[in-house]
Amino acid sequence: MKNHRTKTILTHAGRDPRSNYGIVNPPVYHASTILFPDIESMEESAKRPFDGYRYGRSGTPTTTAFEQAVTALEGGHRSVAVSSGLAAITVAIGAFVRAGDHLLVPDSAYPPTKAYCDKVLGRYGVETTYYDPEIGAGIGDLIASNTRMIVLESPGSQTFEVQDVPAISATARDRGVVTMIDNTWATPLFFRPFDHGVDLSVHAATKYMVGHADAMMGVICTNSEEHFRAVKTECYLLGHSAGPDDLYLAQRGLRSMAARLAQHQTSALQIAQWLETRPEVAQVLYPALPSHPGHELWKRDFHGASGLMSIVLKPVDAAAVARMIDEMDLFSIGFSWGGYESLIVPQNPESHRRTVPWTAEGPLIRLHIGLEDVDDLIEDLEGGFTRLKAAP
Ligand SMILES: Cc1ncc(COP(=O)(O)O)c(C=O)c1O
Repeated sequence: MKNHRTKTILTHAGRDPRSNYGIVNPPVYHASTILFPDIESMEESAKRPFDGYRYGRSGTPTTTAFEQAVTALEGGHRSVAVSSGLAAITVAIGAFVRAGDHLLVPDSAYPPTKAYCDKVLGRYGVETTYYDPEIGAGIGDLIASNTRMIVLESPGSQTFEVQDVPAISATARDRGVVTMIDNTWATPLFFRPFDHGVDLSVHAATKYMVGHADAMMGVICTNSEEHFRAVKTECYLLGHSAGPDDLYLAQRGLRSMAARLAQHQTSALQIAQWLETRPEVAQVLYPALPSHPGHELWKRDFHGASGLMSIVLKPVDAAAVARMIDEMDLFSIGFSWGGYESLIVPQNPESHRRTVPWTAEGPLIRLHIGLEDVDDLIEDLEGGFTRLKAAP
């Protein structure tokens, strides 16, 4: 599939109707036990733990269908599916660090990624330094002799700093440090980590890959057999696995991902531009806007922008924010994003920052722009701003 363009890959990758009675979609295999015809086959299979099927936890053809599709889409070597995006992050990091190692993580990272580094890796003697996401090649100054991995997340999924991924990964490669990016915001359609020298691309497939807010899934795409084996071994040792029905939903979500992302992008840009005109809004954090501090890097490295953004409101109290959000008609209050529906949620980045304090004066609100009619969404936000200003 590597020679086809991405929309074609999304439509065809990971399925083989001719080996499945002509049925378009791959079958859903429910399996724990997988039977061997004889002892010799069982022993042979033990010699090839990274290939074939020997026990449900290590995967079935349903797992392979999704993993192959993601690999083709990312242009990577091999992928590993797990049961959530956070599991994908923790496996991708845990596979490479040992007691005494040092890890670099952007201060803008998804907070549970930071909590894993502090509360789990910290317990096992791995030290994490949180770096300024906008550090670029300056990352070299933070690499110590025991630095094993650099984590990236671009843009940060709450505060939207765009990272200079090529500069960071080139510096890491020179110094023998493994790089891993959380590529959930962009998807492989809008950012191609392997073209920029990154070693591992991780997705909360729960978001745009599943695309319908109805399943949890994570996937790690690797750029070499060595990295693949490290990740797959970590999964096996920790008992990670992905459920067959969720894998099916994730690979089905891929088929429409390009069409959905195109609409998320169009609507999000229109709403971001409208939000910039609003007197209640101090700043719109959406990399596709020329006013965004990371816009030039985004233009250089990305192929598009998805539907997630934040706004910084001019200073107002929490009660006013609740008045604005509680009565929304289409924007619902909820975690996650990447589904077909619009979401709104206040964020508190100040409570997670270690290195780069979050100093915005007004509250930060994150919006996921769904597939509703954009004029209806704007009307909903307009109503919210009217309530924001209304005296209690
Ligand atoms: C950027 C990012 N990465 C990873 C995750 C974790 O994904 P999951 O909820 O599937 O564990 C999330 C979830 O919100 C996220 O926003």
